[in-house]
Amino acid sequence: MDSVGMVISSDGSEIDILVKSELIELGTILRISGSYGIVAHMFYKEDEKIGSKQRLIARVQIFGRLSNGSLVRIKKPIEPYTEVFLADKEELEGILSSKPKISIGRVYGSRARAFLNPAEYDRHLAILASTGAGKSYAAANLIKEFSSLGLPIIVIDTHGEYPGLLSSCVDDSTVIDIHTVKHPKQGYRELKIPVSELSADDFSHFTYMNENQRSALDLILDRLSGREFLLQDIIKECDNVDNKVIHEETANALKRRMMSLERTFRNVFDRLGTDIRGMVKPHQITIIDASYAPQGVRQAVVSYIAKELLQGRIRRENEMENSIEFPLLLVVEEAHNYCNPGISHSCKYQLQRIASEGRKFGIGLCVISQKPSKIDEGILSQCNTGIYMHITNPNDKDHIRKSFESINDEIIKDMDSLDVGECIIAGAMNRIPFFICEVDRIEIKKDSRKKFDFRIPERVEVGGFGYV
Ligand SMILES: Nc1ncnc2c1ncn2[C@@H]1O[C@H](COP(=O)(O)OP(=O)(O)OP(=O)(O)O)[C@@H](O)[C@H]1O
Ligand SMILES: [Mg+2]
Repeated sequence: MDSVGMVISSDGSEIDILVKSELIELGTILRISGSYGIVAHMFYKEDEKIGSKQRLIARVQIFGRLSNGSLVRIKKPIEPYTEVFLADKEELEGILSSKPKISIGRVYGSRARAFLNPAEYDRHLAILASTGAGKSYAAANLIKEFSSLGLPIIVIDTHGEYPGLLSSCVDDSTVIDIHTVKHPKQGYRELKIPVSELSADDFSHFTYMNENQRSALDLILDRLSGREFLLQDIIKECDNVDNKVIHEETANALKRRMMSLERTFRNVFDRLGTDIRGMVKPHQITIIDASYAPQGVRQAVVSYIAKELLQGRIRRENEMENSIEFPLLLVVEEAHNYCNPGISHSCKYQLQRIASEGRKFGIGLCVISQKPSKIDEGILSQCNTGIYMHITNPNDKDHIRKSFESINDEIIKDMDSLDVGECIIAGAMNRIPFFICEVDRIEIKKDSRKKFDFRIPERVEVGGFGYV
């Protein structure tokens, strides 16, 4: 194999090479005398060592040398004037391989599969990019790979796109179970929240209540506890309260709030609710299609599911009844709607809990968003693997830089130059500090209608007038 460059300066794990081949680009992985590194920056330079003409230089971040199949850090700088080679397919796959391993695409500019270590799923992931960059396709590839290993997956699908994406890429051994929220759809089950499981605090996240109304609701829930009840039962109780205990005006105001909730959450609140434990099964992907539900209902659903999943796993750890037997991955699309620092809905607190405690109980969280700056910093900083696609917004980049340890300025700069379907993967699931991956394309089985595919309406002439 021909050399593609030559080391001209070397400082610890950062080296500059004189580029001698068109094949070197941002993200190219190179071999330099037994060590491997990635092109993190490219620029032109004039220097007496390389001649008086401006020459193209690549700054390479060395991530180590291979020793007995694993990468070890280099202890002294690489010698100047060393020849540089492209890492070939076998070398790349060897560097990235782990046991077990998954892959969502190819290493940029090569035929090598971009392997990731799935065992790190419970240290959480974030998929962040501008709209249309390919987040959902990348997430669908990841979900397919995790579920091929058997890991149960729950997807909060805000746009109803995952049934199509996943049914086009998973194999026959994977079960896809779809639940709609608020609107029934033929062939799908409906997700229900059991009213009798909610506390007065939970209710205050669905509707505004003042302190008096909240304590009145507490008393009513206390009275109803021990049996399954519906919102109508709470409404009826508002009429039956002892006015010496709950002031008549408070009871009436609470009743009005409950009646408004009844309207918003019609078809969602139920006596028994959906058994969330039943959703967590190996080789099963459960999609919660919330595309028809209003925002408040979606938040309530995320809050309820996240709470049930964590409690079920905690019960399992403590060998209690009603536990969730298997570890799992919770995927949250449009996560900025649920963990925006500006909201005080319980869905944010439940996701924060999973981000900080989930690992202990085998729950991984994957947040997906086109507005990284609208995601709670605490949650992002718990995501140890970052999949970044095309991002240009400086606020979003700044927020990412602050939230992730594994990210450096070179990666941030590269985010502008990524095309649709290309991503930078950095962090725990990656054996090297970062690489650029071309995510596998998914051919969706059901052909969606093309934009501007309209037919001209036929005109009929009747009595000299044209009708459509
Ligand atoms: N890996 C890929 N290879 C080729 N084309 C892709 C790839 N991923 C996505 N695309 C194309 O880009 C389009 C947008 O992808 P996707 O829906 O995943 O973007 P997104 O970032 O999730 O967008 P949104 O912010 O609207 O949710 C897809 O319809 C598809 O045509
Ligand atoms: Mg999307």
